[in-house]
Amino acid sequence: MKIGNVEINGKAVLAPMAGVADRAFRELCVSYGASYVVSEMVSAKGIEMGDRKSKTLSFLSEKERPAAVQIFGSDPITMAECVHTVMEFSPEIIDINMGCPAPKIAGNGGGASLMRNPQLAESIIRAVVKESPVPVTVKIRSGWDETSVNAVEMAKRAENAGASAITVHGRTRKQMYAPPVNVNIIAEVKKNVSVPVIGNGDITDGQSAALMLENTNCDLIMIGRGALGAPWVFSHINAYLEHGRIIPEPPVSERMRVMIKHVETICEYKGESVGIREARKHGAWYTKGLRGAAKYRKELGMVSSLDELKKIAFRICVENQ
Ligand SMILES: Cc1cc2nc3c(=O)[nH]c(=O)nc-3n(C[C@H](O)[C@H](O)[C@H](O)COP(=O)(O)O)c2cc1C
Repeated sequence: MKIGNVEINGKAVLAPMAGVADRAFRELCVSYGASYVVSEMVSAKGIEMGDRKSKTLSFLSEKERPAAVQIFGSDPITMAECVHTVMEFSPEIIDINMGCPAPKIAGNGGGASLMRNPQLAESIIRAVVKESPVPVTVKIRSGWDETSVNAVEMAKRAENAGASAITVHGRTRKQMYAPPVNVNIIAEVKKNVSVPVIGNGDITDGQSAALMLENTNCDLIMIGRGALGAPWVFSHINAYLEHGRIIPEPPVSERMRVMIKHVETICEYKGESVGIREARKHGAWYTKGLRGAAKYRKELGMVSSLDELKKIAFRICVENQ
């Protein structure tokens, strides 16, 4: 299938996740078969003000293609202008964040708060589409709260404004990340637009991926938390969707091998001190569900070097044989 003119192979997209889905993680997910990846959200205002961090977040490597850069903001002109800077990193797609519930974003008129202002949302999309040489996608929630579920209206407006695909996270802003995901609203969006629809929320394996596709008729699925500490989830989903095969979870030794490789890559890209700090949260995800996970989380939460991380990982393997 295609998003605009961009060929997408496979069904499972890596979700944008600020503070987590950085270049190292995205490349890892692509190596396991993610069909495309989306950057952490980038502030259009930050770009406008020349903020180095915002620009760094937009960087995409050749090992993570196709890839989208996700931008957020509340002003159509600023959003459109940041396209030029973002294009320096040659994204195949530009995604607009209209779903972030965080007060820092939604409280400033961006992210999910645009669900409350569909007209402004449409102007932003139109302005970005006009400036963008690549397809523009939009990521929305089901609505702001249960009394204002308006994903269908938002999606129609997005399509009308030139969006090439729409991701629907089937929860309201008020629900944040708490279950359940409203698959009916994703199905409704799919019925009401002709551009591809990407279903998102609580997909963690092949079966939940298949259910999302069957229940909503969506074109692609997007995985966020299900990939944390488990980037191989993409190969599991692909195996199930393509051949009905259920791949068992990898053994502890493999989990630890991937964790170390992941952290080494973060260290390579961001330096060891940042890499080790970030290893603490990733370590908790990679050890989730293991015997002694709480103890490991605590130990990994204080890890201070790559050598120490490797020693702990080795001990985890021995203790979980
Ligand atoms: C740590 C974290 C960071 C996130 N950052 C972003 C973001 O930058 N942009 C965005 O549109 N959504 C963001 N999200 C939402 C996810 O993209 C996704 O919509 C949500 O987690 C639901 O999917 P899941 O159930 O597969 O996790 C974030 C979610 C998490 C857990």
